[in-house]
Amino acid sequence: MSVVRRPDELVVDDDEPPDLLAEYDTEETISAVAAALSRRYRVTRVEGDTRAYARLRKLHPDLVFNISEGFTGPNRESHVPVLCEILGLPYTGSDALTLGICLDKARAKEILAYHQIPTARFEVVAPGASAAMLASFRLPAMVKPLREGSSMGIRNDSLVRTRTQLRAHVREIHLAYHQPALVEEFLPGREFTVGVLGNAPAYEILPLVEINHSVLPKGANHVYGYEAKWVWDDPAKPLPILVCPAKISIALNKRIRALVGRALDVLGIRDWARVDLRLDAEGNPNLLELNPLPGILPDPGENSALPAAARAAGYCYDELILKVAAIALRRHGLLK
Ligand SMILES: Nc1ncnc2c1ncn2[C@@H]1O[C@H](COP(=O)(O)OP(=O)(O)O)[C@@H](O)[C@H]1O
Ligand SMILES: [Mg+2]
Repeated sequence: MSVVRRPDELVVDDDEPPDLLAEYDTEETISAVAAALSRRYRVTRVEGDTRAYARLRKLHPDLVFNISEGFTGPNRESHVPVLCEILGLPYTGSDALTLGICLDKARAKEILAYHQIPTARFEVVAPGASAAMLASFRLPAMVKPLREGSSMGIRNDSLVRTRTQLRAHVREIHLAYHQPALVEEFLPGREFTVGVLGNAPAYEILPLVEINHSVLPKGANHVYGYEAKWVWDDPAKPLPILVCPAKISIALNKRIRALVGRALDVLGIRDWARVDLRLDAEGNPNLLELNPLPGILPDPGENSALPAAARAAGYCYDELILKVAAIALRRHGLLK
């Protein structure tokens, strides 16, 4: 069994945005995953770098527990799954195609929209492309990098209320993240994130987590972005921002679960994921994004939605990780 991860030697240059590495797991997370798996399996850690193919080929593990975010390009999260595919190695989680699509939030939204799953109206503005449509885009809007996670490039000021702010922020995304900007209508309602385990047609949807925006500093926008995740949320004194189980009506809970189930299905999500949603002005749930490589901070004192949802369902951290491995092994017919 291998844990595939990032190399340690990554550094951020002074002229790069400070959240450039926000997507990558810390040593603490990687060793917690390895420790959990070690309770049942023999584990070798493998970096998801240029040496990964040769190492995986030599090790030929029974299962690759994939937590690799990759390094470069729009397909970075697909790199390790593709290596596994070439080598015929079973691996946990969604396949390369689903990972690639979900990393490109607009592509994922196109598929959701095709299947009539509500998602905020959006436009993509590539660097150098015409931004004429911004003249008529309904405000307020959220501006984010097209292909990132962990709130990279999503900050308190990503919620724009004027055309000038909108244009400036789109330009900022191009300059700082060297990729298209995704402009989305702002959904002002309550926000939820939903952890899931398993596979179609029997996904296990974990207790819903609400993002309680009211604990953000006074005057802050209701955005669960970089400041909320990494600046205002001091590990020594965590913001009580995740409420699990969310306090919502049975009807809304059912509606969100049904929506999540359909979204997982149409995007081909496997084994585990976390799905972000938010209510629009009318109170209807809309899909924000799907995270097929969900964040998994091991310390229960820190804010991490999937481990929190798993705890609410009765699974401690190690059980969560072992469950994902077992689900993947079962999917491959390697476990009864
Ligand atoms: N269209 C939107 N309307 C309202 N809030 C949004 C919208 N898009 C993003 N947000 C806010 O920004 C946060 C991060 O956005 P998200 O697309 O989930 O990116 P990430 O991949 O960084 O988690 C969300 O959790 C939510 O609080
Ligand atoms: Mg998100």
